[in-house]
Amino acid sequence: MIAVRYYSRSGNTKLVADAIAAAVGTQAVSVDASNAALAETADVLFIGGALYAYGLDGKLKSYLESLDASKVKKAVVFSTSWLSRHALDLIKKELSAKSISVESETFYVKNRASEAQLQEAAAFAKKFA
Ligand SMILES: Cc1cc2nc3c(=O)[nH]c(=O)nc-3n(C[C@H](O)[C@H](O)[C@H](O)COP(=O)(O)O)c2cc1C
Repeated sequence: MIAVRYYSRSGNTKLVADAIAAAVGTQAVSVDASNAALAETADVLFIGGALYAYGLDGKLKSYLESLDASKVKKAVVFSTSWLSRHALDLIKKELSAKSISVESETFYVKNRASEAQLQEAAAFAKKFA
């Protein structure tokens, strides 16, 4: 099973999450949705968020902290931001703290993805599906 989870305040990260999900044949679910918890083991969990004032949104942080590590075989991280890729490292750090295996390759878009970047997101996702 492949899962896609994200948190997005203004839609930029959601756009990428939706492109990834469509490419791997699933639905992207916001971490604050009622069905955000993993119902079964994910072979791959795509997880994304943005950077807000040098940090992750609290909802994404809580979700990462609440993840059941035994239900994630591997995590793949994506992010959007205005400038900094730091959210990628922050998400990776939370996952590693839970001993979840994290793919070293990540996907990043500056602000709102173009059509071409959404296609890149899809191609990126398919590599891990
Ligand atoms: C309150 C706030 C703080 C932000 N802080 C940063 C920042 O420190 N570094 C950065 O590169 N981008 C920063 N951004 C830009 C967002 O990371 C960027 O717009 C991102 O794509 C938003 O994703 P979302 O639409 O999924 O919420 C900030 C945006 C907001 C609204």
